[in-house]
Amino acid sequence: MPAEILLDPDALAAHVHRLGREIERDHRDGVVLVGVLKGALLFVADLARAITEVPVELDFIGISRFAPDSGRVKILHDLDRDVSGRDVVLVEDIVDTGLTLAYLTAQLQARAPRTLSACTLLDRPSRRIVPADLRYRGVELADEFVLGYGLHTRDLYRNLPFVAVGDREVVTAEPGAYVAQLYGANARENR
Ligand code: IMP
Ligand code: MG
Repeated sequence: MPAEILLDPDALAAHVHRLGREIERDHRDGVVLVGVLKGALLFVADLARAITEVPVELDFIGISRFAPDSGRVKILHDLDRDVSGRDVVLVEDIVDTGLTLAYLTAQLQARAPRTLSACTLLDRPSRRIVPADLRYRGVELADEFVLGYGLHTRDLYRNLPFVAVGDREVVTAEPGAYVAQLYGANARENR
């Protein structure tokens, strides 16, 4: 099965713009955006630029991949700044099982921010294990595996300027399976 474009650059820009409006409307004293590495890197960079009415501070947190069977996870990169008393929005690329968001929410809540909410570009509720409270939500997905705009397999596809739907089993067997289709002349019309 070839990959298909789900969100082209214009569609992404429209969602980012809307989410930026929602966040600045709710944070009149400014906001700390905490991007979850590395998947949310592209999204949070665009989201920060979409917020034009209030100051944005950017920070990042990175954790090891959640192993759903063990539940064990560790922080690989921590925030630079103290967020106590601050208005914080945690920014994710995609919320799937909800385990990552739940873990990070607990970690940040323990640092006593004034407010804490979550923003995700993509939401796939069909695979949820723990509930997710998503104050800001881009697009709801069916049970489809996505790549691009930060999302990856083995660190491939993150720099695509669109989100594509692929076959999870195809890239598990061959991570580069969609490279020829999604990069280069074939993909130029999507940019
Ligand atoms: P959760 O803890 O299951 O909600 O996992 C979310 C993390 O898994 C995301 O932040 C992504 O980094 C990764 N992930 C989940 N679904 C996909 C996908 O369809 N494509 C690529 N990465 C994904
Ligand atoms: Mg992520």
